[in-house]
Amino acid sequence: MKHLPVMFAEALQQLAIKKDGIYLDCTFGRGGHSQGILDQLGPSGRLLAFDRDVDAVNSDYAQAMLKDKRFQLMHNCFSELENIVTSEGLMSHVDGILMDLGVSSPQLDNPERGFSFLRDGPLDMRMNGNAGVSAAQWLMTVDERDLVEVLFEYGEERFARRIARAVIERRAQSPITTTRQLASLIEEAVPIREKHKHPATRTFQAIRIEINRELEELKDVLQQSARVLKPGGRLVVISFHSLEDRIVKRFIRDESGAKYHPGKLPIKEVDIEKGFFKKASKALKAGKQEIAQNPRARSAIMRVAERL
Ligand SMILES: C[S@@+](CC[C@H](N)C(=O)[O-])C[C@H]1O[C@@H](n2cnc3c(N)ncnc32)[C@H](O)[C@@H]1O
Repeated sequence: MKHLPVMFAEALQQLAIKKDGIYLDCTFGRGGHSQGILDQLGPSGRLLAFDRDVDAVNSDYAQAMLKDKRFQLMHNCFSELENIVTSEGLMSHVDGILMDLGVSSPQLDNPERGFSFLRDGPLDMRMNGNAGVSAAQWLMTVDERDLVEVLFEYGEERFARRIARAVIERRAQSPITTTRQLASLIEEAVPIREKHKHPATRTFQAIRIEINRELEELKDVLQQSARVLKPGGRLVVISFHSLEDRIVKRFIRDESGAKYHPGKLPIKEVDIEKGFFKKASKALKAGKQEIAQNPRARSAIMRVAERL
């Protein structure tokens, strides 16, 4: 199937690409957005991209794109943004940062990566398969109360307690090592079915967020983006669920108001600390046509801020 980057036209438009600008794509994936940025850059423009997934960085399409001298690709977590930008000597010189969060289609479609309950494979779910513990290892040792909390918090799963109990009982007999084993255990544990939603959807999302520290990564990179971007630089973030979107929305809201130090009255101009960003657009959603071609786009929400 042809790769369709989510909200492609909107992302490029909101980045407001300057021909000689410096751009960062924090989530290279299959490089769809990166290629779009390169296509709009002139000969002196630059694009740095990251992905924590070694398969994405070593892929044929990435290697082909690396022939372009304006492009660099690094195998990193995006929470290392500031370090990398510092070592490249580009602090406060960046014109735009793009984040298209979550997992890519090659990650979801490959049963060996263990992200999908629709495909049987090892229960891994690490975006970087060379680091950290797999979902199977985590499920072997996690405390029941912590598991309940992860399922509630990151999956918004109302049957968190039942599912956690079922996991603890099952693992006492034998380890849960495959996606199918976990999905069928959840199917048995959950008493009612939601329309159009597999009962394992929320649990898989929750475990994936936990083992990849996805929300911490996002909070870190947002903070760093203010120091990396130059005035007028754009921050464009595409989220796929309410937990991510809430973090982005609050960050932009908190950074776009004036903050003053409480307790100092009367308030003087010098006591007012200005935020680093202004909101550059209302929240954007994918169009009907895109959703018809790519159902994943239905849950996408784009937020855009401009560095002051
Ligand atoms: C939705 S895909 C991006 C798709 C991409 N925009 C395209 O056009 O092909 C998300 C990618 O970001 C990567 N990723 C997710 N979180 C990351 C993080 N914290 N640091 C670096 N890469 C991350 C994933 O490995 C995945 O390849």
